[in-house]
Amino acid sequence: MCISDKLTLLYIENYPQFIVNNSDLKIRTGIPGFDLIVDGGLKEGKTIVLSGKSGSGKSTFGMQFLHNGALDFEEPGIFVTLTQSPQELISDFRAFGWNIEKLIEEEKIMIIDARPFKINDQSFESGDILYETEPFPFTHLTQLILQGIKKIHAKRLVVDSLSVLSIQYGNQFNTRQGIQKMIHALDEQKCTSIFISENLESRTPPEWYAASGIVILNHTQKTSTMDRSIQVIKMRGIKHSEQTYPIRFNENGYHVLHPRLSAAS
Ligand SMILES: Nc1ncnc2c1ncn2[C@@H]1O[C@H](COP(=O)(O)OP(=O)(O)O)[C@@H](O)[C@H]1O
Ligand SMILES: [Mg+2]
Repeated sequence: MCISDKLTLLYIENYPQFIVNNSDLKIRTGIPGFDLIVDGGLKEGKTIVLSGKSGSGKSTFGMQFLHNGALDFEEPGIFVTLTQSPQELISDFRAFGWNIEKLIEEEKIMIIDARPFKINDQSFESGDILYETEPFPFTHLTQLILQGIKKIHAKRLVVDSLSVLSIQYGNQFNTRQGIQKMIHALDEQKCTSIFISENLESRTPPEWYAASGIVILNHTQKTSTMDRSIQVIKMRGIKHSEQTYPIRFNENGYHVLHPRLSAAS
């Protein structure tokens, strides 16, 4: 274990004493080092956007949030996939030792397959309607999510990704309206959510305006390795750090290095 890993662990061991002075209920992501930079965790029921380029680790961060919730906090979660198949996700995350299949059986995790281009998938009876016409996807998906929340008593949600969902809409107004309604419904259910958003350089995606927080994942190729970092650029009502922190993958998933407690205080 390198020194920075040891420092992270040291902070984590001291973690409970830093959940302070905030009357809002905080949902701990459990991602090592991350909760410290958002003053203890995410606000219950609120939706944040997690953005970054392809390969920056968005899906991993999202599933780790759900995996930790299911295993450590008794908070079941739903992963809505619009890109990878559920089987692919289950198999990819085995690399971190996460047994998603078992958690699905135990109703601690649910994967909703909302891929717009899938055909005749039986996982959801009414899934086909998702790509039939323009006005339906958001409302229909919101209904599926609400059914899922009810079924497994979900407290956490990840949508991977909002960008794929939005592509189906030609109309920006409808997209923003759909996102707003979904966020409102999740808030009513006290379901803390992460909307994954591809980093589009041409324009600001509508979910960025609607969400109560924005977290950016960066990665750049160095000679023989990848430089990865994370930055919180918006988190309504939370005194968050504005610094950029290095992140690493290890055998258990993601962790944030060098969380500086002074920055969040
Ligand atoms: N066990 C691992 N060890 C190191 N790097 C990993 C591991 N698992 C995934 N990665 C890195 O994460 C990248 C994919 O992460 P992912 O969460 O799918 O990104 P995104 O959703 O942003 O495209 C991989 O391309 C790889 O570089
Ligand atoms: Mg992904």
